Formats: sequence, structure tokens, C-alpha cells
Amino acid sequence: MDLSGDKTRFFNMSYDALCLRRLVTCYNINPGPTGVFPALKTGSAVSLLTEVIEKKHQGVEVDDASRRRLYAWIDANAPYYGTFEMSRPHTMGGRDTWHFVPGNARAAPQREPWFAELDRTYQKACASCHGELATGGLARKNVWINLTHPEHSLLLNAHLSKAAGGLGLSGERKGVRPPVFESAETPLCRELLAALRKGQASLALRPRLDMPDAVAIPQARDFGKVFKAAASVRIGVAAHPASGLHCARYEKRLLRRAARRAARPTQQ
Ligand code: HEC
Repeated sequence: MDLSGDKTRFFNMSYDALCLRRLVTCYNINPGPTGVFPALKTGSAVSLLTEVIEKKHQGVEVDDASRRRLYAWIDANAPYYGTFEMSRPHTMGGRDTWHFVPGNARAAPQREPWFAELDRTYQKACASCHGELATGGLARKNVWINLTHPEHSLLLNAHLSKAAGGLGLSGERKGVRPPVFESAETPLCRELLAALRKGQASLALRPRLDMPDAVAIPQARDFGKVFKAAASVRIGVAAHPASGLHCARYEKRLLRRAARRAARPTQQ
């Protein structure tokens, strides 16, 4: 597990590791209002990380102040950014290092040129087994790319032989055997690394708000749209208003719910 502060797509390695591996249990409130939160279903009381610390994993003693700090962080719902400001407006969460929006205007995000370049190689060599590289939110593949130390990226090292300093992953999965790259100098590995290095440079040019020298760019945030969408579904408006990326999933859920309700026989 990588518990370093190396930057990933939205956060850093340790944050992604703790949250993706569910060592920390918290609420993801992005999809929209989630109803009443039941007591003790989330937070430090039920997080695996608490258990690991309290059972003194590998004999590690965590001092009282550090434990309290960790548990307070979990109980604050594991925040990462200490600010709502953003440097990549209109991308997912205003933090997506793999995408940008020209002129920072409200529009569909485009792939960063370095990411498009990386993805071309990925499509050629990896997608047949691994599917799409960029998927939404907290996705496993976000940690495949290390934007602080590109050469440490899992994407590069997973199938690079151990002799060449990689992980040499070669186990069969669903009847397929992965390729093994004998050297980091193979054209494919060079292509991947070249694109990853451009990714590092691109992040340095426009640092995120968790980095020194980040410049906050204002973005109009009309979260009221979530509720407008909800209202339009409730009153049966067929075409609900276009809304921001952040509530697309919530809208889908509302629409499914509305469709189910419409399919039910009406009570007289
Ligand atoms: C022929 C199918 C195949 C291809 C092509 C392939 N992989 Fe894999 N990959 C696998 C399998 C199978 C595993 C699991 C191997 C293991 O655990 O020993 C794996 C594991 C991985 C992992 C570790 C995380 C995980 O999902 O288990 C990464 C990262 C990865 N591959 C990246 C890549 C990249 C990047 C490429 C292209 C350069 C690539 N793979 C090409 C089959 C493939």
C-alpha cells in the first residue's frame, strides 16, 4: 500500500489508499441528499483503520494525540481539501488533473493533452484487458498514475519485470495472462513514461489547491440545481433542466425513481 503524499488524479496516494481500500468509513455525499444518517454506521467507531491502530498492528504504538487527530479527521468525514476553492474549475470537483475546460468556462471537460497521449498508448496495449482508463470519482485506476514521481506509476510498473525494477505481475486472471516487459527501455514503456512526465509538468504548471503556489479560480456554483432537478421530477416535468456534472448521478437516480413511481398502478 502506498501511503505517500504523491499526487494522484484528485488527491494523493495515501488518501486514495485509505478511502479506496475502505480502511476509513465515511459518507460520500456527492450523489446528493442521502436521507437520515443512521447513528454509528460511519466514522471512527466503525473504520478498519481504528481497529488496526487499536490492535497495535505490527506492534506499532500510536500516541494518544496522534490517535485523537486521526479519529477526529475520520469523524469529520475524512476531508482532503481544506478549502472549497479550486484551480481547475468545471472539471470533476474542480480538481481533476486528467481533464481541463478551455477558458475555465462552463463546458464539457476535455482530456489534458498528456492524458490523451497516454491514453492512446493505453488503448493500444492495455485496454483490451483493463477497459477504460478514465472513469469517474474515486476509481481504482486513479492511483495507477503518480503525478509526483511518474516513474513510480503502477501503470508503468505493474507488468515491468522484477529484474527491471517493476512488480512483474504475471498472474492469470479470467484465463488471460498479462504481458511482461523485460526492460523499461522497451518502446511501449518509454512512450508511457514520456506521457506521464508531461502529466507531472502539466500539474506543476497549474498546481492544485493542495499544492504550494496554487491559484484559486472562481467558479459559479449553483448547487440549487440539484434541488431544482428534484422538484421537476416530482411535479412530472418530462425534460428536467440541464445541470452541472456534480449532480448527474443524482439526477439519474431521481429519474429512475420517478419512472418506477410512474409504472406503479395509481391508487384511487
Ligand atoms: C492480456 C491481458 C492484459 C494486458 C494486455 C495488460 N494487463 Fe495488466 N493485468 C492483467 C492481469 C491478468 C493482471 C493481474 C496479474 C496479477 O495479479 O498477477 C493485471 C494487473 C495489472 C495491474 C495491477 C492492478 C490490477 O488491476 O490488478 C496494473 C496497474 C496493470 N495490470 C496495468 C496494465 C497496463 C498499464 C497495461 C498496458 C501497458 C496492461 N496492464 C496490460 C492483464 C493484462
